[in-house]
Amino acid sequence: VILTEKGAESTPEALQAAQRELASPVGGEEVLWCGRGATALYWAYRVVRAEGDVGDSPEIILPAIACASPVNTAIMAGLTPRFADIDPATGMLTLQTVRARRTPQTRAVLFIHLFGQTADLSELRQWCRRHKITLVEDLAQALGARLPCGDPAGSMGEMSIYSFTGTKILQCGGGALLVRDGRLTEVLKSLLADYRPPPPAPAERRMQLFDTYRNLHRSLVGLKRLLAVADISAAFLPLRPAYDCLYILPLNNADALAEAWRGLPSILQQRLVKAELYEELLARKPFWALLSGWRTSGVCWRYSLLFGVPDQLVPFSEAVRRDGFHVSNLYWELSSFYRPDDACPEAEKFSRSIVNLWVDDMVDLETVRRCCESMIRHGASFYEQASATGPHP
Ligand SMILES: Cc1ncc(COP(=O)(O)O)c(C=O)c1O
Repeated sequence: VILTEKGAESTPEALQAAQRELASPVGGEEVLWCGRGATALYWAYRVVRAEGDVGDSPEIILPAIACASPVNTAIMAGLTPRFADIDPATGMLTLQTVRARRTPQTRAVLFIHLFGQTADLSELRQWCRRHKITLVEDLAQALGARLPCGDPAGSMGEMSIYSFTGTKILQCGGGALLVRDGRLTEVLKSLLADYRPPPPAPAERRMQLFDTYRNLHRSLVGLKRLLAVADISAAFLPLRPAYDCLYILPLNNADALAEAWRGLPSILQQRLVKAELYEELLARKPFWALLSGWRTSGVCWRYSLLFGVPDQLVPFSEAVRRDGFHVSNLYWELSSFYRPDDACPEAEKFSRSIVNLWVDDMVDLETVRRCCESMIRHGASFYEQASATGPHP
């Protein structure tokens, strides 16, 4: 099925091959193509929501390290987000952290395959089944990834979602929801039978709105970094609904997606070559720990490491940026935006040390090499200053 400006229609011929390649390896029963990953998440959540009584307040457990889209769309679909802490080595959920957040209202868990990494989800899946909780896998950053057991990511959850927008592995635009469970497929079909597409907000207005969102988010994270006690949720939550119109989009470019899909194997390969080079050049330094999950999964979305001088993370990243390289510190711990009571201390530490480096078409191997020189020069300098003035970082 595809969501276009006109409504829900049959998957066009152009996308049939991609649909087969997405669905067959994981036993998918239905694929819903749509305008972005957030729209796919929204529909996954609608399916989860449709199962409960209107009166109850169903909850979904999300990782505290992620972007805001998986949370905003959960709220839009009528699910209450709860935040679980993360494995400090990967930034991803664990069975233990999810367990700690379960309540009688828990209906779903969103497992995000962060930065292209994967994890062994067999125990989490069993636990979810035992408690009648729907497991959704978010593969926005891990298209094409393998689980540690060798099976494809997306083969554990009842549903999985994909994104092909802006910064992702395929950047042609679009998103997809895949449903593996027959009963949930029927629920999705019945929801789509009544579907009337919302009038799309003009693209120009969406871009302006998105700019204000980015600025708002940056300011609140900046404040929280400096002033840990600030309650940024009090400022953020009342403004959040202003951004709802950004998340529900139709897919208008099925042909471009079909074309991009054919290039996926070579794109994944080129990313791995850059990840290898980062690892070779950045390994064995005392001032960071490299995340190496991309090796097992076969997918590197951003090359990521944890910087060992957390209180100097921002000046360190700015110094590398001033040398002309893309470097970001993606994601602030999410409970502080939505539900400060769900404190996630490991996630907060993770946000204070994460560094993400580019492996896409924006960089070639020579840029990677020079970026590593800059990283090492500034990393050593901040590390030495910290060692000279305080306890060993
Ligand atoms: C983990 C994750 N899930 C979902 C999304 C939403 O995807 P999209 O931007 O295509 O809506 C993103 C986007 O950054 C993401 O990082």
